[in-house]
Amino acid sequence: MNQDQLKQLVGEAARDEVLKLAPGQVLGVGTGSTVNYFIDALAPHKDHFAGTVSSSNATTERLLKHGFKVLDPNDVVSLPAYVDGADEIDPLGNMIKGGGGALTREKIIASMAEQFICICDASKQVPVLGNFSLPVEIIPLSKGVVSRELEKLGGTVTLRLAKSTRADLNQTPSEPFVTDNGAWILDVAGLHITDPLALESVINQFAGVITVGLFAKEKANILLVSDASGVSRDVF
Ligand code: A5P
Repeated sequence: MNQDQLKQLVGEAARDEVLKLAPGQVLGVGTGSTVNYFIDALAPHKDHFAGTVSSSNATTERLLKHGFKVLDPNDVVSLPAYVDGADEIDPLGNMIKGGGGALTREKIIASMAEQFICICDASKQVPVLGNFSLPVEIIPLSKGVVSRELEKLGGTVTLRLAKSTRADLNQTPSEPFVTDNGAWILDVAGLHITDPLALESVINQFAGVITVGLFAKEKANILLVSDASGVSRDVF
């Protein structure tokens, strides 16, 4: 099975997982290629849910195309589950996210949800987070000062450029990648993250940081992971 087939497999498993929820509730939906398979698999069952809240413009567009109702998060008070992928996940359910640039809205929706259901293929599982560069969304004028602080933590910092992101984002090559919130992203390589909760807290304190792509406070509660032998389910 290739990686796309593994993503599709786990997307379908996530559909079965959320259909166990009582009908008539709102569902949180993440961003990325794995979630896209989930959305497509869930589309025939959209009436099971009163609506969705979306973590990005790209996800909103896909949900609307399938006829899902997309609600303003400010109008939602109860969210039983949020389904999203990860760039890396450790054995305790801590994650690096934001490879697709949607980390801030992802973290907001995750914080609203009772359960974070993480879906990924087995290549995303790591013993220690940090091989994947850690995304940090920032206010543009804080690039210099935040970069210096991140370098003091031992990281190598790169401003994300539009050309280094997904082709479908349609931004000018060599310009900074601009998030759905009009902000920039610093990608921090070379970190060996043995205490994700502590590092998340430290980076959150730097003035100019909007969101760090460490999901330790909002870690996964359920992990569905696919490999050649099928999909396994873990609970944290
Ligand atoms: C989006 O900003 C990310 O957090 C994604 O959830 C993460 O990058 C996983 O994406 P894929 O499913 O495309 O690997």
